Amino acid sequence: MTTDVPSLDVALARSDTPACEKVIHFNNAGAALMPQPVLEAVVNHVQLEATIGAYEANERELEKVEHVYDAAARLINCAPDEIAFMENATRAWDMAFYSIPFKQGDRILTAKAEYVSNYIAYLQVAQRTGAQIEVIPNEEHGQTSVEALRQMMDERVKLISITHVPSHGGLVNPVAEIGEIARDAGVVYLLDACQSVGQMPIDVKAIGCDILSTTGRKYLRGPRATGLLYVKRSLIEQLEPPFLDMHAARWVTKDRFEILPDARRFENWEMFCAGKVGLGVAIDYALGWSLEAIWTRVRELGDLLRGSLSNLGLITVHDLGAVRCGIVSFTAQGVDSDEVKRILSENRINVSVSPEEISRLDLSERNLPHVVRASVHYYNTEEEIEEFCNRLKSLYGWRFKSHSSLDDTPID
Ligand SMILES: Cc1ncc(COP(=O)(O)O)c(C=O)c1O
Repeated sequence: MTTDVPSLDVALARSDTPACEKVIHFNNAGAALMPQPVLEAVVNHVQLEATIGAYEANERELEKVEHVYDAAARLINCAPDEIAFMENATRAWDMAFYSIPFKQGDRILTAKAEYVSNYIAYLQVAQRTGAQIEVIPNEEHGQTSVEALRQMMDERVKLISITHVPSHGGLVNPVAEIGEIARDAGVVYLLDACQSVGQMPIDVKAIGCDILSTTGRKYLRGPRATGLLYVKRSLIEQLEPPFLDMHAARWVTKDRFEILPDARRFENWEMFCAGKVGLGVAIDYALGWSLEAIWTRVRELGDLLRGSLSNLGLITVHDLGAVRCGIVSFTAQGVDSDEVKRILSENRINVSVSPEEISRLDLSERNLPHVVRASVHYYNTEEEIEEFCNRLKSLYGWRFKSHSSLDDTPID
């Protein structure tokens, strides 16, 4: 970890996030807590809509509504016209993926930790077109093997499509190395960065991806029902969106339409304008801390949580990868993950549960029907991690010692 990364003022971040006083929020991979400036921006816009009319509010606040394109471009190092504002990450990803004209025999290369909705889309396209889905094996750390990918490349590979950070664990896939292979082969590279944007610095040029999708409500701390799609300029005009409307295209004569030349061709007309304003503010807010500082802090907390959980003994941490992020997945011996979640929730601690359906290639193969997902953000604290572990100890009612085992005697 570099030493010249500015440290983050956690107390200030927490004072911007009043809910920190009320809950221990370890469900940032589900939806993070919005900071006050984001909440205010959304509420103010909705208030204005109710006061002067929604279309009128949009006109009056056009600059704030449109700011999200500039902010997103700064965040991931692209141009504003390469950004589409979307209703979520899934639709962003879909609009790009379903624009690719697959045919019989085309190969789609993906990774083991692929997200459920993406894989369903591969299956549908494979059934419709005869394209083939092929899964790149993992290397010894449990991340996508760059070497295996290199060996798999040939002229039939139409798409490399990878999830950067899976929904259900701390793995960070080696996306820039994968990007080099895609670039050398001239193959389209689609990156699902839903869990990584906002958590770590993302530079689409350094990664070398052609398409990237993400969401607003997770590590970016934006409002729900917001998302972003990036498509590299040189690719935009080659991709005809599966749906068009009067926003994505112009009806120029009775028998002719023209599709927008920029990434907004993937959008549709009606959108969550207050969310758009809020997402712009959320991105500015994240940039204000610096993504390097956020990433340093999130990794430290993630590693601390993993280490503390492992020391409890009856907890098994399941995260893979050489680099691990703020998402921590674990199981508690003899206790169902939903039960762990329920008990933690009674103690004002938010986590979620990832069932194997979310990632059948990974969780099912590792024989994990479910894992508890505790995901930290920079505004969480070391004290919260300690309290979290104490709660887990009392979950068993056993005397936990470092590296204790199930043979420990119950004390109550
Ligand atoms: C890796 C990954 N991709 C895509 C999504 C879908 O995001 P959204 O719910 O914004 O469509 C998620 C959501 O959990 C995710 O974790």
